[in-house]
Amino acid sequence: MSDEVFYLTTPIYYPNDDPHLGHAYTTVAADFICRFRRLQGRKVHFLTGTDEHGLKLARAAEAKGMAPKQWVDHILPKWTDVWTMLNISYDDFIRTTEERHETSVQRFVQALHDRGEIYLGTYEGLYCVACEAYYTPEELVEGKCPIHGTVPERLEEENYFFRLSNYADRLLDMWEREPWRVQPGSRRKEVMGKVRQGLQDLSMSRVSFEWGIPVPWDPKHVIYVWIDALQNYITAIGYGRNEGTFKRIWPADVHLIGKDILWFHSVIWPAMLMALDLPQPKTVFAHGFLQVGGEKMSKTRLTGIAPQDLISTFGADGYRYYFMREINFGNDGEFSWESMIARYNSDLANDFGNLVSRVLSMVTRYLDGVVPRPPEDHELEDSDEALMAVQGEAFIEMEKAIDDLRLDEALKACWRFVRKANAYVEEVAPWALAKDETKGRRLKIVLYMLTDALRLMAAMVAPIMPETAEKLWRRLGLTGSTTEINYGDDLFWRMTKEGTGVETGTPLFPRLEEDSPAA
Ligand code: MSP
Repeated sequence: MSDEVFYLTTPIYYPNDDPHLGHAYTTVAADFICRFRRLQGRKVHFLTGTDEHGLKLARAAEAKGMAPKQWVDHILPKWTDVWTMLNISYDDFIRTTEERHETSVQRFVQALHDRGEIYLGTYEGLYCVACEAYYTPEELVEGKCPIHGTVPERLEEENYFFRLSNYADRLLDMWEREPWRVQPGSRRKEVMGKVRQGLQDLSMSRVSFEWGIPVPWDPKHVIYVWIDALQNYITAIGYGRNEGTFKRIWPADVHLIGKDILWFHSVIWPAMLMALDLPQPKTVFAHGFLQVGGEKMSKTRLTGIAPQDLISTFGADGYRYYFMREINFGNDGEFSWESMIARYNSDLANDFGNLVSRVLSMVTRYLDGVVPRPPEDHELEDSDEALMAVQGEAFIEMEKAIDDLRLDEALKACWRFVRKANAYVEEVAPWALAKDETKGRRLKIVLYMLTDALRLMAAMVAPIMPETAEKLWRRLGLTGSTTEINYGDDLFWRMTKEGTGVETGTPLFPRLEEDSPAA
């Protein structure tokens, strides 16, 4: 078991279609957290990828007249392009059709079989292809899938079963003792309620189609897509192939997922790990759903919006900031064009962008663009101390909020500092100091404080707005890159060097009109 590496995963997405805002939501959140941890000086392993087997995928390919592998190879760049556009800093990308994955999955299920955890039986049930899951009649809503609203298909086949029913008590015990393992707590309670009613064994193979990983001891069966997919979290880091790497990185610190797939991650996956005595992931965190007009956003509901349509108007950073700030992480949240414009204009164009322009143009106008000597302790006034205090508190709150995965709260805390810096400008009024010859030193001090505040701000927003942070860093004439910042060493005041040349540049976030063109 390892505390050395901070290991975070996203779900691996089905590439049966293009990525939409919902997929990008999880991935942006994951990137925000990972970038923050890196700047805290942690070693990070950030994994994402694609879930390329299963009936849904096979049917999507068939509809396009392609073989499944040909289809996923064809569509994959659409996914990776969106991640590039959004500056997603993953360390590894796993595709379940890769040999490294298939080899490890076969070893894993073989080990389950060897331990008597798998037996042959017949299954008859109602199957929702979009979920790739069986439902009991009670789980259906008016005979339809509770998530997709479609009528499930009746499937009957000979399947191998995993003895999931043996694990209900162990899972419940674990959550009683270690409740943080499934979050938020409200969702853990729901899962616990369901597990208390008892667990049924899980059918873990299929014979009716071929697109999957063969069951090693009976290759006319393919492994059920969820049993295959969940293992990506360990196959990607060497399970069954490279035990050294596996032990160094596992367990995951956070499996970040949407609430729709919590059952698989909180019940089935932990039980599979228990069956092989492998360590449990530290936290499974299920966030809520993005909705448009109250509907879950997905292609099947035709409300799918492509992330690139919004990135072209708001930029990658505007996009990242909006979704992380606007929606309470953990709950469902509404997306609208109007709220995105409003948030962009108020927080980014006004609070942040204007501050940067004002400060840099004052340094240019009053000090020829050169950073003056930092103030000595005895030169600091109450207003300066208050600015420093708010920054310190804001950062502490950001760290706490990131620890608890309260991502929107982390940004709110950061903006307390941004707003305080704006208030400071009004309070110290550099333009008035500039008119008074006796206030020359004070003018230099306040502009030093503001320039230094921008450096700290660049560091603090770097995890959520990496492009903006980097631009600002360069305008401030600082050396190196914002990805090299270390919060433990670099978040002190008065570290900007005297004599550094700054550059005003164009607005970082030009204001958008209410009716700016959508896609
Ligand atoms: N392939 C499985 C996951 C296997 S993980 C071992 C899968 N893929 S998916 O493409 O359907 O992606 C599901 C995930 O996308 C959700 O859990 C969630 O993280 C994200 N979202 C999909 N639609 C969403 C919204 N409308 N809102 C927010 N996130 C959503 O399930």
